[in-house]
Amino acid sequence: MKSSIILKRLTALAKENIVSFHVPGHKNGKAYRGYKDHIFNNALLALDVTEIPGTDNLHAPEDMIKKAQERAAKFFKADHTFFLINGTSTGNISALMAVANPNEKVIVPRDCHKSVMNGCILGGLIPVYINPKVSKEHNISMGIEAETVEKAILENKEVRAVVLTYPNYYGICSDIEAIAKVVHKYNKILIVDEAHGAHFNLSKELPIPAIEAGADIVIQSTHKTLPSFTQASMLHVKSERVNIDRLRFMLRMNQSSSPSYLLMSSLDEARAIVESEGRVLMNELLENINKFHEKISNIKGIKVLDKSLIGRYGIKDIDRTRIVLDMTDFGISGTSLEKLLRDEYGIQMEMSDIKHIVAVCTIGNDAKDFEKLLKALISIKKKREVRKIETIPLLASIPKMCIPPREAAFCNKRSIPFKQSSGKISGEYIIPYPPGIPIICPGEEITQEIIDYVELLKEKKINIIGMDDDHLENIKVIE
Ligand SMILES: Cc1ncc(COP(=O)(O)O)c(C=O)c1O
Repeated sequence: MKSSIILKRLTALAKENIVSFHVPGHKNGKAYRGYKDHIFNNALLALDVTEIPGTDNLHAPEDMIKKAQERAAKFFKADHTFFLINGTSTGNISALMAVANPNEKVIVPRDCHKSVMNGCILGGLIPVYINPKVSKEHNISMGIEAETVEKAILENKEVRAVVLTYPNYYGICSDIEAIAKVVHKYNKILIVDEAHGAHFNLSKELPIPAIEAGADIVIQSTHKTLPSFTQASMLHVKSERVNIDRLRFMLRMNQSSSPSYLLMSSLDEARAIVESEGRVLMNELLENINKFHEKISNIKGIKVLDKSLIGRYGIKDIDRTRIVLDMTDFGISGTSLEKLLRDEYGIQMEMSDIKHIVAVCTIGNDAKDFEKLLKALISIKKKREVRKIETIPLLASIPKMCIPPREAAFCNKRSIPFKQSSGKISGEYIIPYPPGIPIICPGEEITQEIIDYVELLKEKKINIIGMDDDHLENIKVIE
């Protein structure tokens, strides 16, 4: 295995048995030593240190953290890499605050992760929304087209940056190279939320990594698809358009002042593992997935979201490591199937929606995992009746923004009956899930069309998220 940097140093320090009169309070794990069978009574806690001589400082790295970040930057082909200990969420927020000033505009996909919206709120930015393509057949959001981005830039020439989610939760990838060209043609900055694509550089069979496709800032949840600990992410920069000092300032401001060394070392370990063996392991994984796909194609009624979609709905590529099964003709909703797999077969999927189940597959999965899933699906199939699952076409229009997100977040709100809210300004999100595209965001005008549409969703028992009142009898509006 290629060398890792942080863990080696932490292990050496632990061996010194230094008497601790500093934080953390568990004192290198000593606080748990009296509890013989306690799971925290282990070697790992001795590595959970803080900034002392020899451990460097994430917020002003000069030594091992700097070296580890540089190694990661080299591996991921970035100019600069920043370790994130508050997930991609802080990366998205900090990137947005680094590239635009309060009251400046950024182009944002309407189905972006909530951290992008939170970045707009915290930074006082004005989002200009663009819609992804949506397939009625699949009822999920698909790609964003380069023409859509160009049109939005031409209509809002003063925008500072464009945010792209790449890939989306279902592994769907827009034509990022074409989008990067458009964004740079107008001298704007491309921020890519690559939360689900940290593994892309491990195989040519996978979609092109955002950083290699021309993105200026890329944020990856290393913890989602590579073997780092939960919350450990990376932010990469490859650009002369980005003010690195300002980005550093925002990261310092938004991240904890007590960064976890376990999280940081897990980022370094993840890099070391995939740098040494990632390509071989990814090859094995892709072979296992190919075999799974071959076998699953023999089960009548299960459709796989696969590369046949490329070229439609703004889709340039699809991540093979994300297995998305459409269960409509199988006779069971994705949501029920997820529960059944967990309750009766000991298999936990990443997520499900009314039609699909989604599996996140990584180099941590082996052939046996896929066999187990296959066997479970075959045995469930035998138990099911076929029935159709209903979906409703999406509402295409984006409501009028009356108040920018930041102002809306801080306004006083009051609850009123939803059915009587036409003409009011929403204080909440209403998001049918799937596809996860908000019908309304705080600060936008509620119309009768929206009320009628949401009532229809409710009637059809479609999952709606974002509001305080789950049943949406009442909605919070801005006073
Ligand atoms: C597209 C996308 N971006 C960002 C995030 C946030 O990532 P993290 O959990 O690393 O903060 C998620 C989390 O699910 C996500 O799906």
